[in-house]
Amino acid sequence: CGIIGYAGEDRALPVLRTGLENLEYRGYDSVGVALRGHEGLRLFKQAGRIKDLSLPEDDDSVVGIGHTRWSTHGEPTDANAHPHTDCTGTVAVVHNGIIENYDSLREELSDHPFTSETDTEVVPHLIEEYLAEGDDLPTAVDRTLERLEGTFALGIVSTEFDGIVAARQDSPLVIGHGERGAFIASDVTAFLEHTREVTYVEDGDVAVLSNGGVEIRNGGEVVERPREHVEWEAEAAEKSGYEHYMLKEIHEQPTALRQTLSGRIDELNGEVDLDIDLPKEYLNSLEEVTFVACGTSYHAGLYAAQLVESLADVRASAEIASEYEFDGGRDPWRTLVVPVTQSGETADTLSALRRAKRAGARSLAVTNTLGSTVTREADETVFIRAGPEIGVAATKTFVSQVATLALLSVAFARARGELSTTDAIEFLGHVRQLPGAVQKVLDEEAAFKEAATEYADGEAFFFIGRKLGYPVALEGALKLKEIAYVHAEGFAAGELKHGPLALVTPKSPVLAVLTQGSSPEATLNNVKEVESRGAPVLGCTSLRDAEKFLDVTFDMPELGALSPLIANVCFQLFAYHVAKLKGRSIDKPRNLAKSVTVE
Ligand code: G6P
Repeated sequence: CGIIGYAGEDRALPVLRTGLENLEYRGYDSVGVALRGHEGLRLFKQAGRIKDLSLPEDDDSVVGIGHTRWSTHGEPTDANAHPHTDCTGTVAVVHNGIIENYDSLREELSDHPFTSETDTEVVPHLIEEYLAEGDDLPTAVDRTLERLEGTFALGIVSTEFDGIVAARQDSPLVIGHGERGAFIASDVTAFLEHTREVTYVEDGDVAVLSNGGVEIRNGGEVVERPREHVEWEAEAAEKSGYEHYMLKEIHEQPTALRQTLSGRIDELNGEVDLDIDLPKEYLNSLEEVTFVACGTSYHAGLYAAQLVESLADVRASAEIASEYEFDGGRDPWRTLVVPVTQSGETADTLSALRRAKRAGARSLAVTNTLGSTVTREADETVFIRAGPEIGVAATKTFVSQVATLALLSVAFARARGELSTTDAIEFLGHVRQLPGAVQKVLDEEAAFKEAATEYADGEAFFFIGRKLGYPVALEGALKLKEIAYVHAEGFAAGELKHGPLALVTPKSPVLAVLTQGSSPEATLNNVKEVESRGAPVLGCTSLRDAEKFLDVTFDMPELGALSPLIANVCFQLFAYHVAKLKGRSIDKPRNLAKSVTVE
């Protein structure tokens, strides 16, 4: 989502309109603005894009907030579009992030009529309560923030207050200092044409924009935050200074994962809450779980199938959606079909789902896109909450898919009584550590760049892995072929000797997954096979004995069954840097589309 706000001497509406246009790259399924004028708040919002929102040309309000939404809670409808207001229409709020405890806050506010399905709407209603007790807006916001759990960047206006109050916790928020007013936004692109003087708001900060000035407080104390001059041009700013969306999205993975996991893990009791309605008796009676998907999502399905089988003790497989037929003597009542699709619109995946439904199977979609076709056609949906992904090659959505599916495996396993509390706690502990572990790999980016520089002119690249390392080998190869246009193949390491070994030469670098969860000792034997044929080997491992057989060692943090997923981040960075050295069109590779809506 993207937020923008302006408080100053000029008309707010033109600032909000261009700001929202500039923010559309952050996602746009619904849009809205609230203007604070002489006669109270004026609210305009609807599902759709800013260009379709009819706004009053003559509005002369000098304070206002706007929002472009990319849904995480509640379908993209007019009612769910931001800003959200209280009962009296005197407070309006725009929000980016997730309020985790919104359910319990809604219960507490049961005498307030709610008009949307969003987590955000609790915020204006809480503020309303505190205003009614006589607080001014900044104080009411402070008290409200004390009640919120989760992540947020908030922009708030009220008829009671001549300005904007903004707050940040784990979601980006920046203030712009103009000559005739101040701005808030999710990122500087929103207001770059008005000012380049900015202050980055920090976690726990509350900013009050009024009388042309800005005051920032944290923990009740006024704090000084540095002013910075932004040198970026708009296009670079959209990519937060990264050269490509793909690289930005690779680096966003820790944040994407935090969003994926937020509010879903009860680590104390080893439980998971994915808000799905699949009765325990049904899960207990399951004979098979089938993931159907294409491309990168298919690789996420392959990873998940192994997790489900090992944790929940039920047969599980991943099928290429375009190949899938519901047959083979399966019992539709005892088969759960799980379409995995980032976009929710891939035609092959939707057709596979329809074939399964016609046969009578139950379905549970896993997607990144609220309101997408798959969410309407599957019986249940779980969202991966990775945020919009613009690069055609999927990166952050893959890790978020696997993390979501890992939680799903635990949920199934617990419902089926197949996973003890102690084991569930241990597994979920690893899931929790994923964002930090991915960050560790990202911090070593220079090493991947160096390896890419050394091996970029390989004639072919082979990725090998076993068990959970196998889907990662496939995904590593897919990334490299997609964006670097070089021949790359992923193999189950044990299969090398049954054919592919004939292709191995000193000009074919081999990239190996040698982490926990991928039978590293066995794979090491395959590493020796290719090494003795002169191929350079790059390995992701924490095994000390492996190093002597490797030309390049990428040191891995280990997280049990999730370790191969971390190795995948190494392969993303390697592919990115090879593609960059070759001068490829990284964000829009030739012949490929982000979402393929034909069969
Ligand atoms: C296209 C994209 C791939 C993606 C696949 C499945 O081919 O280029 O990156 O993995 O579709 O997309 P989905 O939206 O269903 O995950």
